[in-house]
Amino acid sequence: MSEVVANHERPLQLPDRGLKTGPRIVRPLPEGVEAQPYTLFAVKPLGPIIGAEIEGVDLSKPVTPELQRELNRALLEWKVIFFRDQHITSEQQRTFAQLWGELETHPFLPVGDSDEVVRFAKNENAVGRENSWHSDVSWRLNPALGAVLRLIEVPEAGGDTLWADMGAAYDNLPDEVKRRIDGLTAIHDFTHVFGVRLPADQLAVKQAEFPAAEHPVVRTHPETGRKTLYVNPNFTVRIVGLEAEESEKLLQYLFRQAQIPEFQVRFRWEANTVAFWDNRATQHYAASDYYPSPRIAERVAIVGDRPY
Ligand SMILES: [Fe+2]
Repeated sequence: MSEVVANHERPLQLPDRGLKTGPRIVRPLPEGVEAQPYTLFAVKPLGPIIGAEIEGVDLSKPVTPELQRELNRALLEWKVIFFRDQHITSEQQRTFAQLWGELETHPFLPVGDSDEVVRFAKNENAVGRENSWHSDVSWRLNPALGAVLRLIEVPEAGGDTLWADMGAAYDNLPDEVKRRIDGLTAIHDFTHVFGVRLPADQLAVKQAEFPAAEHPVVRTHPETGRKTLYVNPNFTVRIVGLEAEESEKLLQYLFRQAQIPEFQVRFRWEANTVAFWDNRATQHYAASDYYPSPRIAERVAIVGDRPY
C-alpha cells in the first residue's frame, strides 16, 4: 500500500530569514531628547527621522554664529539638510563648510578649483560608481564629520541620492545583536574601492600613507551621544577577533540594516541644490541610473574626530 502524500504539503517551519514586520523605532533625536523650535529658518522634514529642507537661508550671504548654531542643530536632528536655489561659487561652498572645521583633501578623487573640492563630473566617459552604501572615508583614522555637496548639473530623471540614519539602524537591532556587537571593532580599508585601478607601486605608497583603520562597530556620536552602527560594505573588511566566515556573516547582516526603507530618505536633486550631511550618523548611496546623461556635483568635506 503506497503512502498518500498531500499535494500541498507545507513545511512545518519557515527557514529563519530574519523577517521583521511591524512598526520600527523611529525618532530623529536620541531617546529622551526633545526637539527645540527653529527661529531663523523653516525646516520641512522629508520623513519622520532623516532629511529636511531648510527654507529661508541664503548661503551666498555670511552665516552668523547664531545661524550656524541653529543649522548645526538641524543637522544633528535631521542628519542631512537640503538648501534649494543656492547660487553659490565653489569658494562660497568652502567658506560655508569651513564653519564646521578644517576641510579635507581626498587622495583619490578628482578635484575642482581647489584641492579641497572633489568634483564628480559624470557623463558618457565617466560613469557614476558611488552606488554602494558607505560613510565617506571611514578608512581614515579621522573620517569626515560631514560633507557639503552642490549639484551643478542634474539629469532629467535619475541621479537621486539616498541617505540612511545609522542611529535608527542601531536602535532597531534586536537586543541580542546589540549585546553581541557591543565593544567590537572592525577594520576599514580603502583598497577594494580606490585601490583597484591603481598600479601596484602607487597602491603600495597609498597603503603606507593610509593604513587600514580600526573603528568601533558601534560608534557614539560626539555631539548627540547617540549610538550609531558604523560598518559599511564599501570599506569595512572584517571584524576584529572573529573568524573570517563569522565576521563576514555578521557584517553582511549589519550592512543590510542601511537598506531598510524606514531608515532612509531619497532626495531628488535640482541644479543649485546643496546638501549637508552628518557623515558620523549616516551612510549614503548615489543612484547610478542616468548614464550617459551628465551629472555634475562638487563636494567639500570637513575633517571629523576619531570614532569612539
Ligand atoms: Fe560618498
